[in-house]
Amino acid sequence: MTTSFDNAAQVLTLPEPDLTYLRTNRAGEISLEPGGITVEHGRISALEPTSDANIHIDATGCALLPGLVDCHTHLPFAGWRAGEYEQKVTGVPYEEIARAGGGIRSSARALRETPDDVVLAQAQQIAGEMVRSGTTTFECKSGYGLSTAGELRALQLATELQGIVSQVTTRTGLLAHAVPDGYTTTTWMDEVEKMLPEALEHVSALDIFVESIAFGLDDLDRMGELASANGVLLRAHVEQFTTMRSVPVALRHNARSLDHLSTIHRDDIAPLGASDTAAVLLPGAEFMGAEQTAPARDLIGAGAIVVLATDGNPGTSPIFSLPLIVGLGVRRYGLSTREALLAVTLNAAYVLDLNRDLGSIELDKRADLVLLDCPAEHIAYRLGRNPVAATFVGGEPAYVRPDAAWRIAEK
Ligand code: NIG
Ligand code: FE
Repeated sequence: MTTSFDNAAQVLTLPEPDLTYLRTNRAGEISLEPGGITVEHGRISALEPTSDANIHIDATGCALLPGLVDCHTHLPFAGWRAGEYEQKVTGVPYEEIARAGGGIRSSARALRETPDDVVLAQAQQIAGEMVRSGTTTFECKSGYGLSTAGELRALQLATELQGIVSQVTTRTGLLAHAVPDGYTTTTWMDEVEKMLPEALEHVSALDIFVESIAFGLDDLDRMGELASANGVLLRAHVEQFTTMRSVPVALRHNARSLDHLSTIHRDDIAPLGASDTAAVLLPGAEFMGAEQTAPARDLIGAGAIVVLATDGNPGTSPIFSLPLIVGLGVRRYGLSTREALLAVTLNAAYVLDLNRDLGSIELDKRADLVLLDCPAEHIAYRLGRNPVAATFVGGEPAYVRPDAAWRIAEK
């Protein structure tokens, strides 16, 4: 089976093949030139179209991008927390909502009370929304279990989710998210260590929320040791509300990513920028929570591998559209289109350790592709509009907008 994508107005390609990541200060080298590609057996087989294909995609006037990669979501979860949002916008701080039993604890209660099939149906529906916005790969996390059984159940559900969505997914054990009742941070970390053998059957990364209302630097240090001892990636939610100075600790453990960074200490920008640890910025959470703005331009100036993600969760960021996140990121951080697109493709794939297989349009990579009905620059400019005409996962159409169906022709 051969598919030819013909006559695109823009095809996003990188300056070199086989990149692990591209530091964001090199985003200007990304090409958005006219062209086409050929896909065979689900992989990109030529960086030009062919007349000899079974299926032709007429990409006239379209931008052809690598499938978007959402490297930070909290799927699966149960229900929503719209009431809290109303509290937040009328002035109640997140920390206060959390201390009053809202926040993560309220999603933990909801998860406990919701049967497996209902949790999976909600996540599957959200994954459908995501594919219609161009997301071809996404991360799942635990973190709303707040007990050993609850965390392992969340990871089991995340594993089952892979079977009922069209995207590629990964699983992260956010095993230290809020401190469960009856534990201190230290005694909960003891539990984490005990549940690890079972959790490791599901996950490729461990995560921790370092914050005044959650876990501390010692716990981060311990999670880093657990990750490296067990050969999985370390990721961490850091410097979201409070400047904790998590960055030097996480860098000592060679964390794959540090996420949020809205309140990163100035002295930590240069070391993060010089490291192989990606800076995952979450403009949806910052915007919805009126949080501080991560110093993206300074991070880029320091050489950082900048990534954007939705942080999709029922609390801080009930947003699952990467085009919207790109729009918010461009406005909020002053990113160029190329910087923002790099942040939701190759660099996001690196965070999930999938960069060898996906994240860019290059030979032999999975044909995970998004066709936009407009130039790439319009994603951010026409904020809130969904520009996705079609999404392809492994070369197969996973979503085709009805008004774009004419573009796909069998020969
Ligand atoms: O990434 N910061 C901690 N965890 C989530 C929020 C989870 C929630 O509020 O349910 C985040 O923003
Ligand atoms: Fe998060």
